[in-house]
Amino acid sequence: MSAVGLHFPRDFLFGAATASYQVEGAWNEDGKGENIWDRFVHEDSGRIKDHQNGDVAADSYHQYKKDVQALVEMGVDFYRFSVSWSRVLPTGVISSINQKGLEYYSSLVDELLANNIKPMVTIFHWDLPQPLQELGGWTNPILADYFMDYAKVLFDSLGDRVKLWLTFNEPLHVVRSIADWTHLAPGINLHTQGGDYLAVHTILKAHAQVYHLYDKNYRPSQRGRLGIALHSHWYEPKTECEADFRAVHQALQFDLGTFAHPILSDKGDLPPLVQGIVERNSKAEGRARSRCPTLDPSWVKRIKGTTDFLGLNHYSTRLVSLKEDIDPKSDWGVSVDIDPNWPAAITSHVKVVPWGLRRMLQYVKKEFGNPEVIITENGYADNGQLNDAGRCNFYKSYLAELLKAIHWDGCNVTGYCAWSLLDNFEWSKGYTERYGLYHVDYNHEDRPRTAKDSARMFRKIISTRTLD
Ligand code: NOJ
Repeated sequence: MSAVGLHFPRDFLFGAATASYQVEGAWNEDGKGENIWDRFVHEDSGRIKDHQNGDVAADSYHQYKKDVQALVEMGVDFYRFSVSWSRVLPTGVISSINQKGLEYYSSLVDELLANNIKPMVTIFHWDLPQPLQELGGWTNPILADYFMDYAKVLFDSLGDRVKLWLTFNEPLHVVRSIADWTHLAPGINLHTQGGDYLAVHTILKAHAQVYHLYDKNYRPSQRGRLGIALHSHWYEPKTECEADFRAVHQALQFDLGTFAHPILSDKGDLPPLVQGIVERNSKAEGRARSRCPTLDPSWVKRIKGTTDFLGLNHYSTRLVSLKEDIDPKSDWGVSVDIDPNWPAAITSHVKVVPWGLRRMLQYVKKEFGNPEVIITENGYADNGQLNDAGRCNFYKSYLAELLKAIHWDGCNVTGYCAWSLLDNFEWSKGYTERYGLYHVDYNHEDRPRTAKDSARMFRKIISTRTLD
C-alpha cells in the first residue's frame, strides 16, 4: 500500500547532516591538533580508495556560510554537524583550550540561528585526538573522563544556543575500528586482546557521564535534549529455516543491542545473548575469563535511561544465516549477505531496501517500549551526478515507509535527517562515493556547491510535509 495522503506531523523536524572530518578541512589550521584520521590518511594514502584525504575536504571550515545557505535553500529545520575534538582541545585534554576552534563552532551556530535553523551537535564523530589514541584510545577507561571534560567545554561555550546534542555517532563502528575493521582509523586489531569490549565499556560510561552531567548541571538552565546516534541495519532471515530467524535476533542484539540495550532496555546492561556468546567463545578459545567483562551493577544502573531520544542511523538491510562454527575474528555468529535484486547505484553498503526501515522502527518500538526516535542518518551513494534520480527514488521510498511507521504502526519518530548535506570524504572510500544533496566540485579550489535534483525534491517534501 502506498503512503499517498499521509503527512508528516506539523512539528516533525527535517534536517541534513555532516561530520567534522568529512567536510571541514583546515586539518592543521588555527591551532587544531592531529587526530586519528589525519594520522591514518597521512601515514599511508593507500588506505583510501582514491588516495585522497580530508586535509581540505569541502573546506567547510572557511565556507560554512555557503553550507548554511544550502540549508536555507532546502528549508530544513535543523543541521546536524559534529565538533572536531582536536580543533577544540589540540592535545585531547582541557589543559589547553583552542579558542579559535571554539570560535569557529560558535560562528557556525550563530549563522544557523540567524537563519532559523536549529543546530544539532554530535560531540564525537570518529575523529579522536591522536594523543588519546597513543594512550590506548577507547580501550583506556580514562577516556570516559576526558570525554566528559571535553563535553563540558562544549556545553559551557555553545550550550546557551545548542539545544540538541548527540554524544557519540555509531559507537559500534568506533569499536570495530579497533577490533576487526582495519579500513577505519585507527585501523588496529585488538579483538584477540578483548579491546572491543573494553571500548564498549568506556564508551557507555562516557556517554552516561555526559548525560548525567548535562541533566544535572546544564539542563535546568539550557533546557536542551541529549541523545546518542546508533547505527543498525535491518536483518532478514536468508532462508525460512528456524536457525536463520535466530540469526536475525542475534544480529540485531549485536548490531543495535550492544549500545541500545544498556541505555534503553528495562533491565539495562549488555544484551544477555551477547554476553553469553562472548563468554562461550572465550571459553572455547581457552581463556581464563570472558573477553566481555561484567559491567559493575552500579554502572548498569547509571547507564540505563541515559537518553532523551534514540538517534537512529539506518541505511540498508542484510540477509543473515546462523554460522555453524565459531569465528575467531567476530562473535556475531552469523553470515551476512545481500539479495542481488536489491538496487544500488555503486558498490556502496547502501542497497535500496525501503521496507527495512519500517521493520527496523517496528522492532525498536517493540523492543524498547516505543522510545522517541530521530532518524539521524539515512542516505544514498552514487558518483555525484546532479541529476540524481537514484537518490530521489531512495529518499521518496524510505520516507514513504517512515510515514507508514508513524501513522500505521504508531512509531514515535519525531525527526529525519538526510545524510548528507554535501558530497564529502567518505572515509576509506575517499571521494568515490558521494552522498550529498549538494554536489561539491573537488577539482575546483573554491569547492563550489551545487544543488542536485534531490535537494530540490527534499525542499518540496519539507515545505509540503507530504510525498504526494
Ligand atoms: C555513517 C557515518 O556516520 C557517516 O560518517 C558516513 O559517511 C555514512 N554512514 C555513510 O556511509
